[in-house]
Amino acid sequence: MCTSENRHRTPDQILGPYFPVGRGAFTGADLIGMEAGDGQAQGEMIEVTGRIINLDGEPVRGARLTIWQANSFGRYRHPNDRNVAPLDPNFVGCTRIRSNEDGSYVIKTVKPGAYPAGPDWMRPPHIHFEVRGRFERLVTQMYFPDEPLNERDRLLAAALRPELLVAAEAKLQKTPRRILNFDIVLLRG
Ligand SMILES: [Fe+2]
Repeated sequence: MCTSENRHRTPDQILGPYFPVGRGAFTGADLIGMEAGDGQAQGEMIEVTGRIINLDGEPVRGARLTIWQANSFGRYRHPNDRNVAPLDPNFVGCTRIRSNEDGSYVIKTVKPGAYPAGPDWMRPPHIHFEVRGRFERLVTQMYFPDEPLNERDRLLAAALRPELLVAAEAKLQKTPRRILNFDIVLLRG
């Protein structure tokens, strides 16, 4: 647990071209199969959980989270995405939720694939977050631990404290599903 002395605001990352369009049709903690087929999304099933807190460590309850990501092939369900990787009919890839009373949140999803962002640049697997508290908005991206592409990613490298954007493995659960922990720190909340 951090003390207030060494806690830092989660670094900003760019919003990117794939922010979800349309109204809040995807409300719910599940990014898998919300509107499409009745089969199983492809890829590694994971959960991402964490807390929204402020610099003093207080929970930010009721924060509005918009979360979006590519599918396991590295393709966004978004008209701006010209990647040739396939869509997955059982994967929506975006949601809007609120943090709980203790600031916590949890989503079920699949691990996103890497995708090309330029001729010599593969983005590592990552999940986009937009967080709106009472006083502020934070836009960032969560990365996965032990990904070789993290070392060469220009956006991650540009962050002031890139290590704060890499999720931690949470191994305490009995479920066989991989669980990652990603806390988000706002200034005031
Ligand atoms: Fe992205």
